[in-house]
Amino acid sequence: MTAVRDILRTMDYGLAPESDEHARAWLAAHSAGFGHFIAGAFTPPGQLFDVFNPARGERIARVSQGTEADVAAAVAAARKALKSWSALSGDARARWLYALARHIQKRERLLAVLESLDNGKPIRESRDVDVPLVARHFYHHAGWASLIADEFPGHRPVGVCGQIIPWNFPLLMLAWKIAPALAAGNTVVLKPAEFTPLTALAFAEICVEVGLPPGVVNIVTGDGATGAALVENDDVDKIAFTGSTEVGRAIRQATAGTGKKLSLELGGKSPFVVFEDSDLDSAVEGVVDAIWFNQGQVCCAGSRLLVAESIAERMYAKLRARMETLRIGDPLDKSIDVGAIVAPVQLERIKRLVEAGEREGAKVWRAPGPLPERGCFYPPTLVTEVEPASILAREEIFGPVLAAMTFRTPDEAVALANNTRYGLAASVWTENVNRAFEVAAKIKAGVVWINSTNLFDAASGFGGYRESGFGREGGREGLAEYLEAPAAATKSAKAVKAPLNALPGGAPAPDGDSIDRTAKLYIGGKQARPDSGSCYSVLDPEGKVVGLAGLGNRKDIRNAVEAAAKASSWGAATAHNRAQVLYYLAENLESRSEEFAARLGAQTGAGAREARAEVETAVRRAFYYAGFADKYDGAVHATKTRFVTLAMNEPWGVMGIVCPDEAPLIGFVSLVLPAIAMGNAVVVVPSASHPLSATDFYSLLDTSDAPAGVVNIVTGEAAALAKTLAEHDGVDAVWCVGPRELSKAIEAASAANLKATWTRLPPRDWADEQGRDYLRRATQVKNIWTPYGE
Ligand code: NAI
Repeated sequence: MTAVRDILRTMDYGLAPESDEHARAWLAAHSAGFGHFIAGAFTPPGQLFDVFNPARGERIARVSQGTEADVAAAVAAARKALKSWSALSGDARARWLYALARHIQKRERLLAVLESLDNGKPIRESRDVDVPLVARHFYHHAGWASLIADEFPGHRPVGVCGQIIPWNFPLLMLAWKIAPALAAGNTVVLKPAEFTPLTALAFAEICVEVGLPPGVVNIVTGDGATGAALVENDDVDKIAFTGSTEVGRAIRQATAGTGKKLSLELGGKSPFVVFEDSDLDSAVEGVVDAIWFNQGQVCCAGSRLLVAESIAERMYAKLRARMETLRIGDPLDKSIDVGAIVAPVQLERIKRLVEAGEREGAKVWRAPGPLPERGCFYPPTLVTEVEPASILAREEIFGPVLAAMTFRTPDEAVALANNTRYGLAASVWTENVNRAFEVAAKIKAGVVWINSTNLFDAASGFGGYRESGFGREGGREGLAEYLEAPAAATKSAKAVKAPLNALPGGAPAPDGDSIDRTAKLYIGGKQARPDSGSCYSVLDPEGKVVGLAGLGNRKDIRNAVEAAAKASSWGAATAHNRAQVLYYLAENLESRSEEFAARLGAQTGAGAREARAEVETAVRRAFYYAGFADKYDGAVHATKTRFVTLAMNEPWGVMGIVCPDEAPLIGFVSLVLPAIAMGNAVVVVPSASHPLSATDFYSLLDTSDAPAGVVNIVTGEAAALAKTLAEHDGVDAVWCVGPRELSKAIEAASAANLKATWTRLPPRDWADEQGRDYLRRATQVKNIWTPYGE
């Protein structure tokens, strides 16, 4: 018998298996195969595919491959249920969500074991992290259901939501999607990942158990083709997707111009930054959580270790020592740290990427010790001497592989951290609070954990910058994705002349300077001749020429984007500072009201009273956003004890704005001012038919202390200019009010760098177009988690 003394010396301990009896019985009861969950009942099984336990390589279930017809039936059920579900009081919906949360807790053992069997994750994680967070999400959103009417006055649900989730946190991703959707009064069709559909099906049974009205939640299983059918279904109002950037891009393209609302939570290559003054032992434990949690199959995994050169070798030595103690094996063993990779194809991908990195010269060190003979396992791996351009520094590996690089200065650390097309999360380790916040502010990521990592809570938003997607899940910011702000009336309005956004009649004059009153472009704080050297005639409703405007092209847009990027200090200026500039703009506009009104009348034929009213609205709007510049605050979310979670509203950076063709002044002001109030620099394409109100605006900008490059204006053919803006990698977000074809072109082109877009149809009643929704859309939320206490 082993002596206690020996055990204390070796710290060896035996197996501690969690019983899977209950889960196996559940699976046996469904051995005939699962159907889909549609309209409150399971359909008979269709064409079945196998679901495996990756730790043992054994088949554990068979589920149905959803067809287009299955998806259509589920969407129809969700549509049918929408009316009564959305008409329920918030309190009534809250009761259902509380019931779901409680029943999840009652079944937590089954759900945790099932998740580990299906996905391969250690039971310690599914039991202690995934399932408790699932319940927390439903509880939290039950509360929101009761509060929405007060907290989001006038908002309505988006409608039928198609939700597509990945295999790394199957039940947790389901909760992140379904809980806010239901709280806000939407109905859903959810498609789980083909590798891991089982806990979603168990959840469907819970919906039956609590008596959720039929059709509120529908679950259709299947692979990417089933997901694509859901994306393409015409009767879906919103798609929420979590998964690879590649599929996210395809979904952006498929939904372009359809009017479907979209949120994307995509891949990441998150930096884990360790400064020389950090508590190194804590940082090592942080790495364990960052990259070996769930075998590194985590979208926000800290997969790039950036460590100060002076402590790098010490850190690597500590890491290797710690890696030697990690236990790899049966996910159902409660003392296991690292479980199985989800599927052979993912294991092959990890191997392929590491081999490619090795060929490039990186040094690979794998934790020693035997791997289980059966199943998909990959050892915890530390790769050093990784170049920033290496495949291991760039590609999302989605496995237990840490790529390490060193830096010398904080600036270099930030540059390396941001040297990625992604921007999901980051972890910053330092005992210096000033440095911690400075670096957190500079890193482009939706979540930054200071001296901590991989923390999640229903009260905090989660989601990415850049090619990690857009939209948030969790917290107030996540809920907003499932609500529509009160719409200003869409005007029946006078018919807008000619095809919208096309140039009005008249051949362009040959030379931009041939008439004195040619309005040039406005780029980098200066009037600029269009690259084409041409201009076009601006006509009044009778067809008389009232002026000439520059005919901008791709090159002008590129110059304007460059100028806007150089104005990044605007976003870092104090909000008070920005407010002052906007007040000044408002005052200057007011003092020149008559002139602006006359210009409006000349272009659109509006009567004096109508034109003056438009200018007055524009002035009021300028004061409104000046007032808001320093008041659209972030929040401190109530997440975990001993953590402060700061939700900061950050500007996108460079925004493209395509103005409506009608309402030449108020359309321009309503879009540009909230964007710059929040710290963005903008490239604006004004009304093509009536550009002169926008070009008159140059002089207001010049006299209002707006720094050069904050507002850039390029006149010309809106459709062509808008497309260039949407394609440009230096543009972070695009707003456009224009016809459907233009929205479609913009949304499709935006897929290149996955910039956020907001497209709406004209004409609108611009008198009502102002409010927090504009500010929300002009910003993205960064959540910074900081622990406190010793
Ligand atoms: P994926 O993006 O293909 O799958 C995610 C979900 O989308 C699944 O439910 C899938 O069936 C569905 N899907 C696939 N093609 C679709 C389409 N054309 N239209 C609609 N839905 C579609 O991810 P996959 O293949 O499982 O993993 C590939 C790589 O993606 C991983 O190695 C990893 O790097 C990354 N990934 C990232 C995730 C994240 O959370 N950021 C999650 C899963 C994978």
